[in-house]
Amino acid sequence: MSISGKARIAGIVGWPVDHSLSPCLHGYWLDHYQIDGSYIPLAVPPADLRDALSALPKLGFVGANITVPHKEAALDIVDRVDPDAGRIGAVNMIVVLEDGSLEGRNTDGYGFIESLSFGTRLRVIKDKPVTILGAGGAARSIIVALQDYAVGSIRLINRTKERAERMSEEIGGDIDVVSWAQRAEALADSMLLVNTTTLGMSGQPSLEIELNDLPLSAIVNDIVYSPLETDLLAAARKRGNPVTDGLGMLLHQARPGFAAWFDRDPEVTEALRAHVLKKAGV
Ligand code: ATR
Repeated sequence: MSISGKARIAGIVGWPVDHSLSPCLHGYWLDHYQIDGSYIPLAVPPADLRDALSALPKLGFVGANITVPHKEAALDIVDRVDPDAGRIGAVNMIVVLEDGSLEGRNTDGYGFIESLSFGTRLRVIKDKPVTILGAGGAARSIIVALQDYAVGSIRLINRTKERAERMSEEIGGDIDVVSWAQRAEALADSMLLVNTTTLGMSGQPSLEIELNDLPLSAIVNDIVYSPLETDLLAAARKRGNPVTDGLGMLLHQARPGFAAWFDRDPEVTEALRAHVLKKAGV
C-alpha cells in the first residue's frame, strides 16, 4: 500500500538487522489492515544507539522495536521503563509518547504466554513445576512471564550453571537451578519444557535430552523456529505431548507494539504464519 505524508512510521533497531523478520510481519499487518504507515529496518551500530533513539521523536517516529545487541543498552537510554521491562532487564519495544519522551517496554514474555495459550491448554501449568533450558535473554523474559502466570517452581538448567545461578538470584522467586547433566531427571512432574538454547537451530548441534520422565500432558515448546519442527518437538509430538513452535512467540510479541503505534490490535493468523515462514525460507 502506498503511504501519505501523514503516515505513521515505526521500525526495528538492531545491528545487524537484515536477518530480522519483523519488517515482513509488521508489513503484512499494515497491508492487511490498509493502514497509512510503514515499518522499516534501522541498522544502528552500538556506538550510535543513544543518538539514534534520541532522534526517533525528532524524526516523527511513533516507536520502534529493539533487537540484538541493543535490548539491554536501550534500558538505560529510554526516559521511562515499564515494570516488565525493568524486571526482565531488557527493552524490545519503544513507544514515543505525546511529549516526545521514550517509554521502553518488553513484550517477549507476553508473546511467549500468548503463543502457548493459542496452541495448548495453558492452564495445566498453573502452580505446577516447569523446566527451562538455557539462561540467555530469551530465558529471562520467559521466566518472568511464567512467574506472572503463577506457575509452581521453575527448574532452570543451563550448560554454564553459574550463569543460571546468577540469573536466578537476579530474578528471585521460586527457581531451582539444576545442572545440565541432570536435565532428563528434572523433567519428572514438570508440566512445561521450554528450550531457549540455540541447540536444535539450523546449523547448530541437536538438543540431546531423554524425555521418558516428562508427563505426557506436559507442554513442550522450542523458541527456535528454523527449523519449525526441531528434533525436540518431533520427539515430544511422537510420544503424545502437546507442542508449540517458536514462531508463535515471534508473532505474538509483535502485537502490542503494532497496537500502540498503529492503533489496531492485529491478529495472528495462519496466513500471517505462512507469509513469515516463506520470508524466513523455512
Ligand atoms: P539469547 O539471549 O538469545 O537467549 P544467548 O545469550 O546466546 O541467547 O544464550 C544461548 C543459550 O544457549 C545459553 O543458555 C547457552 O548456554 P551457555 O550459557 O552455557 O553458553 C546455550 N547453548 C549454546 N550452545 C550450547 C551447547 N552446545 N550446549 C548447551 N547449551 C548451549
